Amino acid sequence: MKEIRMFDVIHHTVKAFSHARLGPWQGLGDALLVGEGNLSFAKSLLSQPTAQITHMTATTYEKERNVSDNARQNALYLKQCGVLVIHGVDATNLEKSFRPHEFNTVIFQFPNVGSREAKYGQNPNHVMIRKFLRSAVQFLKPDGNVLITAVDNPHYQGTFRFNDSADFAGYEITKTWPFDPFLFSGYAHTNTNDDDSALDDHNRFVTHVFRLNA
Ligand SMILES: C[S@@+](CC[C@H](N)C(=O)[O-])C[C@H]1O[C@@H](n2cnc3c(N)ncnc32)[C@H](O)[C@@H]1O
Repeated sequence: MKEIRMFDVIHHTVKAFSHARLGPWQGLGDALLVGEGNLSFAKSLLSQPTAQITHMTATTYEKERNVSDNARQNALYLKQCGVLVIHGVDATNLEKSFRPHEFNTVIFQFPNVGSREAKYGQNPNHVMIRKFLRSAVQFLKPDGNVLITAVDNPHYQGTFRFNDSADFAGYEITKTWPFDPFLFSGYAHTNTNDDDSALDDHNRFVTHVFRLNA
């Protein structure tokens, strides 16, 4: 009897530990990924059993003719797995690419416009995130989540101003989770303007969970 209790405790502890490690990457349901670059995150996420993806739509901002060979190969793999892959999707204007649809989860990993030129006197990345969140409102189930991952430091927080962006677009940030890229086997993050990875220069990353205001 004692032994059974001990196993119960171990089982619950392991479960709680892996829940904490995987954070928001569980039970994602019908998921839309935007700004996927080389699509390696989409591919990796698909193979995570705990992600429980019922359907995936993986998109790149770049048009098909402009994506890398790696992205092309990953797109092929994803399509063979039943994923809908769409190129040329602007996250700030989803209504242009999608008919009315409500996803359980909308994901943008390491958004970056690749320019520092101010837009309307504001940081262009902040403007992009505000517009993305606003556009995603109509493509999210009322109890769905938008997940945005970024480098976790004051510079990037100041760049994106996630709390202001949430207020602007009608969301609240319900939780932030540390993001560990090494949990996503095969994920090869790349910059917007080259095939390098800015992640090599940083070691703290964070995923913000946005939920629509009730
Ligand atoms: C730093 S890269 C990250 C790529 C990929 N998400 C990853 O984690 O490897 C930023 C990505 O944002 C995309 N992007 C920039 N502006 C965008 C927009 N308006 N809509 C969708 N994606 C955009 C770029 O094309 C680029 O692929």
